[in-house]
Amino acid sequence: MKFGYFDDANKEYVITTPKTPYPWINYLGTQGFFSLISNTAGGYSFYKDARLRRITRYRYNNVPIDMGGRYFYINDNGTIWNPGWSPVKTELDEYECRHGMGYTKITGKKNDLKVNVTFFVPQDYDGEVQQVVLTNEGSAEKTFALFSFAEWCLWDAQDDSNNFQRNFSTGRVEVDGSVIYHKTEYRDRRNHFAFYSVNDSIDGYDTDRDSFIGLYNGFNNPEAVLAGKATNSFADGWAPIASHYKKITLKPGESKTLVFILGYVEMPQDQKFEADGKTINKVKAKAMIEKYSTPEKFEEGMKELRAYWNKLLSILSVTTPDDKVDRMVNIWNQYQCMVTFNLSRSASYFESGIGRGMGFRDSNQDVLGFVHQIPDRAKERIIDIASTQFPDGGCYHQYQPLTKKGNADIGGDFSDDPLWLILSVSAYIKETGDWGILDEMVPYDNDMSIAQTMLEHLKVSFYHIVNNLGPHGLPLAMRADWNDCINLSCFSDTPGESFQTYTNPKFAAEGGYSKVAESVMVAALFTYSGPNYVEILKHLGKDDEAAKAQAEIDKMKKNIMESAWDGDWFLRAYDANGEKMGSKECEEGQIFIEPQGFAIMSDVGKEQGADLKTLAAIDERLNTKYGLVLNNAAFTKYYIQYGEISTYPGGYKENAGIFTHNNAWIICAAAYAGQGDQAFKYYSEIAPAFTEETSDIHKTEPYVYGQMIGGKDAGSDIGQTGKNFGQGKNSWLTGTAAWNMVAISQYILGIQPDFDGLSINPSIPHEWDGFTAIRRYRGATYNITVKNPDHVCKGVASMEVNGKAVEGCIVPLTEGQKEYNVVVTMG
Ligand code: BGC
Ligand code: NOJ
Repeated sequence: MKFGYFDDANKEYVITTPKTPYPWINYLGTQGFFSLISNTAGGYSFYKDARLRRITRYRYNNVPIDMGGRYFYINDNGTIWNPGWSPVKTELDEYECRHGMGYTKITGKKNDLKVNVTFFVPQDYDGEVQQVVLTNEGSAEKTFALFSFAEWCLWDAQDDSNNFQRNFSTGRVEVDGSVIYHKTEYRDRRNHFAFYSVNDSIDGYDTDRDSFIGLYNGFNNPEAVLAGKATNSFADGWAPIASHYKKITLKPGESKTLVFILGYVEMPQDQKFEADGKTINKVKAKAMIEKYSTPEKFEEGMKELRAYWNKLLSILSVTTPDDKVDRMVNIWNQYQCMVTFNLSRSASYFESGIGRGMGFRDSNQDVLGFVHQIPDRAKERIIDIASTQFPDGGCYHQYQPLTKKGNADIGGDFSDDPLWLILSVSAYIKETGDWGILDEMVPYDNDMSIAQTMLEHLKVSFYHIVNNLGPHGLPLAMRADWNDCINLSCFSDTPGESFQTYTNPKFAAEGGYSKVAESVMVAALFTYSGPNYVEILKHLGKDDEAAKAQAEIDKMKKNIMESAWDGDWFLRAYDANGEKMGSKECEEGQIFIEPQGFAIMSDVGKEQGADLKTLAAIDERLNTKYGLVLNNAAFTKYYIQYGEISTYPGGYKENAGIFTHNNAWIICAAAYAGQGDQAFKYYSEIAPAFTEETSDIHKTEPYVYGQMIGGKDAGSDIGQTGKNFGQGKNSWLTGTAAWNMVAISQYILGIQPDFDGLSINPSIPHEWDGFTAIRRYRGATYNITVKNPDHVCKGVASMEVNGKAVEGCIVPLTEGQKEYNVVVTMG
């Protein structure tokens, strides 16, 4: 069942009922000011850091769900309603929500009054602009009351949600005409405030929540709205809010347009106040309000936003035989890559914004899907991430975006982290040809006095693996690898211990984690990412170092085949008891997805057919109609030696859920191995546009990836195997966005930036006759036509560039050339 449809021409998803199976959200803002907005206008805003600089309040896990947002209430002669249906939930005569690129438009109609609200965050602007267009579509004059509503958060979202003994006394506001200012703590330690304005006179306001809503009422029936009139309350402590009240009369056919702005302002210490030392200096706020003070200016901002996105999305656009692929590649997957790049795993409807900052591994992987859009921002991010590395190549697992400092609470010792840096730096060079990034001086642990070049950072990353091998010559698993839930040094039997930060004291003498537990996944990631480091060294003429690094890669491949090949697939790990994990010998969890794709893509055991055997095993044991499960069989009991993974009921999350992120590695591997049909099958099982028809089962947004889909074992724990199979969770912030962008564009469509230029080597469904693509790359435009006359899955029979035949599949770079017309004939 569908709850809307794709409007590709406008790059929008149009939701036609407010009662979606879960709130379907969008993100506004790409720079500093961000908003989350659901299809009923729920959500919140923050500046840069969803924990430390939260502007509006949101209550997670609320009952009912998604209560709290920026709301417009109408009281039309006693009929109370919202254009987004919620929170009043009066049945509407018409409803529509259009989530677009950086904006959301919600339209509701009731009793001939149509209200259309467009929300967006303009470029280079720290605020959410909301245009409300009210139209009387009836034949009689209408007089009604309009109320706006936003609830302020007292800045630190974590403190805001638990330190009530203090916070109920600190809230401060100021009202100046139609502008309500949130200046909590501004007098003392803060240099910032927020405001909510409207570009018209008002008939009243409220700034105190209890006065507006009523202590025993809810968002669904605020007392002031029921009364049809604001109370002009002035918050002094308790819960400060901002609500404008306006009486409006519209003749038949008449419209009124209002522009509201929810803004954030920072002021230098010495300019915070007017001469009285108390009143906020409003110069900057007023300039912000002025910038979008009319519908014309609003339109101008929207035009700029559209132009921005059209330009970004024009860097890669494809026309394939499948319009679902086109809409994923050309619109939604790229859009999601921007969002994950900006927010890492911090703030979504499943990530509370207070738990995690930027992840080392996560952000490096996000770069892979984003780097073609704005390479400069990718570069800056890579440098920020590398700055939280330690001199020995280990690194902080997370850092806070506001301070850019490593997060000491979580610490380091995640075995895979350093390798992702090699991949992100390589991706940046492959995209831009800017080898200069390797010369950048980058600190360790944010200490510039011990800075070294980025190339050195790559070296310590590479050797961090080589220097930390276990008994089989495979990388030590440490606290966890990519799978945060395989914690082989944890052995936790006490509630409250964090699986990721707790390591059993029995390993204290060994340096904090087992020197026996090894990760095959990291071994394979090493053989996959390592060759990039070797190529970089060769390019720099460091042949000896390159040969030395290559020898380590070769040795690792040998070790994998000697100790981690299970006959039909690769093992997952050796646990701290030296036992195999992910082997036929295991009682449960005999096969895991994570090491397989990387091993295949680095040709480990290829000469003995390891790649095809592994792909066959994956298809048999892991594939389902909704994607590939992470492991099989699911764990049905707690394995203390494995850690968090077996705490999840079978079919969910890392215990045999369809963890879409690692599905991409198999899509890539199948494509790499020439199995274009298989690659596309796995791709279409999870790509959101393909799940649209089953939105009632999938539940989360059909335009973006979620982290997890319930696997075939979901429900097995309660004897209802298959219950919730196919149900999505944790939408939006997932490495799946980047990796599936890589999978579809670089592996299936095969348009892959390489160190020496653009490589085109598709691996597509055999039925396809071909496809076309436009790719802007290193300052030139590539018009690509792929023909598939023999209906093969993979193989480049010939390539022509600007009419001339070229050997191989890399388009040779010609200095100064602005246009490459490339024709690839498969066969
Ligand atoms: C989840 C992982 C996640 C981790 C973050 C675990 O509980 O299952 O998916 O990466 O927490 O800390
Ligand atoms: C989500 C985390 O953000 C990511 O870092 C991790 O790799 C996966 N979960 C798997 O555990």
